[in-house]
Amino acid sequence: MKPLGVVTRGTTNPNRLRRVDNWIVETCGEALRAAADPLVVDLGYGATPITAVELRARLAAGVRADVRVVGLEIDPVRVAAAQPAADPPGLTFARGGFELAGLRPALVRAFNVLRQYDESEVADAWRTVTGRLAPGGLLVEGTCDELGRLGGWVLLDATGPRTLTLAAKLTTLESPAQLAERLPKALIHRNVPGERIHDLIRALDDAWQAAAGYAPFGPRERWTRTVAAVKQAGWPVLDRPRRWRRGELTLPWPAISPS
Ligand SMILES: C[S@@+](CC[C@H](N)C(=O)[O-])C[C@H]1O[C@@H](n2cnc3c(N)ncnc32)[C@H](O)[C@@H]1O
Repeated sequence: MKPLGVVTRGTTNPNRLRRVDNWIVETCGEALRAAADPLVVDLGYGATPITAVELRARLAAGVRADVRVVGLEIDPVRVAAAQPAADPPGLTFARGGFELAGLRPALVRAFNVLRQYDESEVADAWRTVTGRLAPGGLLVEGTCDELGRLGGWVLLDATGPRTLTLAAKLTTLESPAQLAERLPKALIHRNVPGERIHDLIRALDDAWQAAAGYAPFGPRERWTRTVAAVKQAGWPVLDRPRRWRRGELTLPWPAISPS
């Protein structure tokens, strides 16, 4: 089977995906615990396998010890380079693309992969991956900056996109507008007037300015107040203050989907 997709830049970094991994442990942990086969695919792990190694460690510690992570890369050179990091059966590396090399995982993490594709290719890629998940399976697809301080990801299942999560390291966040630079591919070109995601980023930015008086209590307090204000204004925020304090915000996909 020819892997579906194209080789792109392999940029990666240790701990770059810590935020999304912690979110996966909390939000997708139950589905993974219930899975008949605890198989997880890290799709497009990049020039080094470090984020796949970390994903396996976090899932094994936080969800279930018998998790099996398969790092799939479309670039055969990167697959060969990753082999010394393999630790079968819990962690292996193979060549594959959006077709998932014939695997039927309970969870797929695809981070900073679609970023270098065309926006028009996103829906097909999502459909191809979600069509190959195990029953009840999940896809987490998103983007972050080089150090993982700003990110955004979409949670999907076989029916399509369910939620969008935005996440920031609050101690380095200047304003929520920065999150627009790291939106998932499906949204990054939609931060323009008339689009719901643009309205959301503006609402967050306005609420952040209005909460400036809380800055002396620290950025967590300021962000928590910001999200509370946005929720109060009618945005259907899904997660609870405990996660807001980590610099996160999750909304149902229809609230911000492209028009
Ligand atoms: C920028 S790196 C991301 C590495 C890592 N996931 C991270 O976020 O740090 C993107 C990688 O995805 C790979 N890639 C692109 N399209 C792919 C596909 N359809 N299937 C598997 N890998 C793919 C590229 O070859 C590249 O190594």
